[in-house]
Amino acid sequence: MPVPNLKIEDLHVSIEDKHIVKGFNLEINGGEIHAVMGPNGTGKSTLASALMGHPKYEVTQGKVTLDGKDLLDMEVDERARAGLFLAMQYPSEVSGVTNADFLRTAINARREEGNEIPLMKFIKQLDKRMDLLDMDQEFAQRYLNEGFSGGEKKRNEILQLMMLQPHFAILDEIDSGLDIDALKFVARGVNDMRSPDFGCLIITHYQRLLNYITPDKVHVMMQGRIVKSGGPELAEKLEAHGYDWIKEELGIEDETVEA
Ligand SMILES: Nc1ncnc2c1ncn2[C@@H]1O[C@H](COP(=O)(O)OP(=O)(O)O)[C@@H](O)[C@H]1O
Ligand SMILES: [Mg+2]
Repeated sequence: MPVPNLKIEDLHVSIEDKHIVKGFNLEINGGEIHAVMGPNGTGKSTLASALMGHPKYEVTQGKVTLDGKDLLDMEVDERARAGLFLAMQYPSEVSGVTNADFLRTAINARREEGNEIPLMKFIKQLDKRMDLLDMDQEFAQRYLNEGFSGGEKKRNEILQLMMLQPHFAILDEIDSGLDIDALKFVARGVNDMRSPDFGCLIITHYQRLLNYITPDKVHVMMQGRIVKSGGPELAEKLEAHGYDWIKEELGIEDETVEA
């Protein structure tokens, strides 16, 4: 299988006629983890939603390919079947569907008919991965996200990621609201996914998650586009000095998309 590739070229996204993402460029190959960091209101979540095909977000310009195929041309479920996984900042609750049922259905939806995952194999994988994430076994039988704490929802999303084994994942603020323990388990799950067949885009405001997941590349987003790129040391510098020095260096007064 060729190495997975996600390529975003000159992407512009609007919502309700408001221009938010303004010329975003990024290429990620399998085996790589990239972090997009930035202050609030710089268009990070809008970028994630547009890539996943959220109907409210309108792509007005640019091109996105996943393994050479036009991603923007695909329906949401096609994007998922093509190997894209998106963890949302605010995961929703689904009543009446257990976590385990949901996972098995989602896995089988990505497989050919007649080639469903054998139940025992599924259970074995689920057990192993819940163990790695330090999740209680009863979690599998709970209704999806219902009454989950913020930390449980995030951990559950990483469980979904590990079970679905997508080629690409976009994780939007997967670290928000997590205590240090939960953060470590989330990082453990993402690190476990690392392989030449997997590429990952981590979107985060804070550097602390990157203490546990070392990104290959770090990009800073302001005013709806990448304004600076570097290695893991860039995230460390942001941790120590915040974002102001970048604004000064680049002569940016207002970092938000309103500018
Ligand atoms: N659903 C929406 N409706 C209206 N405006 C939105 C919506 N989503 C985002 N925006 C606008 O886009 C700007 C960027 O938001 P967002 O992409 O969430 O940034 P970030 O994730 O970097 O904090 C916000 O300041 C907001 O004004
Ligand atoms: Mg956001």
